[in-house]
Amino acid sequence: MKSFEGLSFLGMESVIQKWAESIGVSSSELKSSMVSNDCEHNKKIKTTFDNYYFCALSLAHPKIKRILEFGTGFGERTTLFNKLWPDAVIDTIDISEGDPSFDDYAIRAKNEERNQMFEKAISLPNVNFYNTNSFFVPTVLPKVEYDLVYVDGAHYFPFCAMDMQYGYLRCSAGGHILFHDYGGLDVTKSLDSILAIIPESATFLPFAVRRPNKAMAYFRKESVTT
Ligand SMILES: C[S@@+](CC[C@H](N)C(=O)[O-])C[C@H]1O[C@@H](n2cnc3c(N)ncnc32)[C@H](O)[C@@H]1O
Repeated sequence: MKSFEGLSFLGMESVIQKWAESIGVSSSELKSSMVSNDCEHNKKIKTTFDNYYFCALSLAHPKIKRILEFGTGFGERTTLFNKLWPDAVIDTIDISEGDPSFDDYAIRAKNEERNQMFEKAISLPNVNFYNTNSFFVPTVLPKVEYDLVYVDGAHYFPFCAMDMQYGYLRCSAGGHILFHDYGGLDVTKSLDSILAIIPESATFLPFAVRRPNKAMAYFRKESVTT
């Protein structure tokens, strides 16, 4: 993966705009989607670019019908997915309060404002929240194919590798898979091991000025693996 060290906000934005153009979305369309979906008003957008990817994908692929998100967090992306693809069913997973790692990892833990945002997100129409450690998803989730998989839950081994495996195997042919935080130790090791054995190769894109050595990894699934 190349490092994005030294790239300013505008430099990173231009890398993302080029990627958006490669999937058929112009920078003006992307900007107006960011504005109309209220992403520009998100104070975090000044330093992170996560929303750009999903706005661009929704313009290029408005018919996405089923979405899987590992790591609901406090529901920022769940809420955005619901806006961008209002007819899509969204399955989203995060650890429950009873999980031994809840206090260490759940970003909604002990934060009233985030908890309220989380509750609002998981109550949206077409959103199914799975209150569980993702270790259990093979028995808990419906056996469906997903058109978009966002892997942004556990960032540590073995759970991140399991999420990647499940997300990859359940993704439809032509479906979109994004992995957040590539560059972090366990995410990198896990994704590199998986990329070595699957036919697809990933594009690595910047997502935060403050994290130039980390990337959003993206690819489209070529065919359904049996
Ligand atoms: C970075 S946050 C997710 C942010 C969210 N995807 C977004 O973009 O708005 C990561 C979340 O993954 C959850 N997580 C970590 N390990 C997990 C596991 N083993 N199973 C389920 N969720 C997990 C954490 O509780 C945390 O809330």
